Amino acid sequence: MQQVDFVVKPGGRLTGEIRVPGDKSISHRSIMFGAIATGVTHVSGFLQGEDSLNTLRAFRAMGVDIEGPDANGKVVIHGVGMHGLKAPQQPLDLGNSGTSMRLMAGLLAGQGFHVELSGDASLSKRPMKRVTDPLAQMQAKVDTAEGGRPPLKIHGGQRLTGIDYIIPMASAQVKSCVLLAGMYAEGQTCVTEPAITRDHTERMLSAFGYELDKQANRVCLQGRGSLTACDIDVPSDISSAAFFLVGASIAPGSDLLIQHVGINPTRTGIIDILRLMGADIECLNERTVGGEPVADLRVRSSQLHGIQVPEDLVPLAIDEFPVLFVAAACAEGQTVVTGAEELRVKESDRIQVMADGLQALGVNAQPSTDGMVINPGLIQGGKVHAHDDHRIAMAFAMAGLLAQGEIRIEDCINVNTSFPGFIELACASGLDIRSETLGE
Ligand code: S3P
Repeated sequence: MQQVDFVVKPGGRLTGEIRVPGDKSISHRSIMFGAIATGVTHVSGFLQGEDSLNTLRAFRAMGVDIEGPDANGKVVIHGVGMHGLKAPQQPLDLGNSGTSMRLMAGLLAGQGFHVELSGDASLSKRPMKRVTDPLAQMQAKVDTAEGGRPPLKIHGGQRLTGIDYIIPMASAQVKSCVLLAGMYAEGQTCVTEPAITRDHTERMLSAFGYELDKQANRVCLQGRGSLTACDIDVPSDISSAAFFLVGASIAPGSDLLIQHVGINPTRTGIIDILRLMGADIECLNERTVGGEPVADLRVRSSQLHGIQVPEDLVPLAIDEFPVLFVAAACAEGQTVVTGAEELRVKESDRIQVMADGLQALGVNAQPSTDGMVINPGLIQGGKVHAHDDHRIAMAFAMAGLLAQGEIRIEDCINVNTSFPGFIELACASGLDIRSETLGE
């Protein structure tokens, strides 16, 4: 088996102008909705990471003609309409991608054919009962492996009925799954979420002409409607920009411009939390691109201070906690995170894995069931494990900027799921980092 490690030399500062890859959440949805729309959807800025490519391959395997992506992330999807997907020849392997599995479970529950969804070792451990429970209430038939884990076996040909579902956890994937199944169900489907989560599904369904009724934390749609093809311009992913927002904040002398970043208010928790910690981040040239707000982000270094992270910001920054823990380790004073138990069921257990890694680097990081308490101190060099979790790998890469010695980060291959070209971009902006491939 091949292993990819990152090796980061201490020091450096981040400067210049960069553009990070396209938004992962929006890229997935552009393929899914384009595939079942009527007409031809043109996508630009598509994320060419393994996760969104797995969604693209899955829809190709269901008979959808998809051109690209080319070097600029242009993808052309020849939509087959709501009922034009075909049974794939084989189970659909979605790799590391929880978003693909949970959203596609909803979309495929109302089709006329059987399909199996599987994934890699990490995805095979992730909880799917959170989507199969509401789907069962809608009369879908979906089998899981033991403990509600993948693979999912979806038995098509069921008549789905709309539900009014109160989601137990803050999850955009569960919300999206139920809404997508709701498009194939009889009557109305409503979801109420316990806290606001990313709303790309709602925005993009509207862009494809599907009517939604949205009020605060509740959204409803009528089943048996249809989608009409449209053009999607995918902004850069704020979750990828986050590593550079933190890196430039903690490394003295940094001044970095990150272009064309999606600043959808359901995703900007990272900016709000960093600003509460004293970060210097400016949103420049704000504009709307394809129904999503976008800006260039200028970040300059500043002395961060520890905070109690407000719990209402947690779902709005849910993917950014690995790198926020690094920011907290570089701040002055204690940072306390609570209400973030969802971090334990991401690509890795991000509370435990980050606490272990920070401790290995000499930081006093104490995990709790739903968060962490971090008392900052000098970051030593050393060895940490990313556990094949892309965001853990990139978070520890940024820790190198303030470390006392070299950091080796093991098991980084999955950085390609969300951020192809990370090493090159990090080097170009001032991080001294290289990738080492070990084994066969
Ligand atoms: C996503 C929702 C979030 C997030 C994931 C992408 C989406 O997951 O962590 O990276 O695109 O809907 P949850 O819904 O499980 O919080």
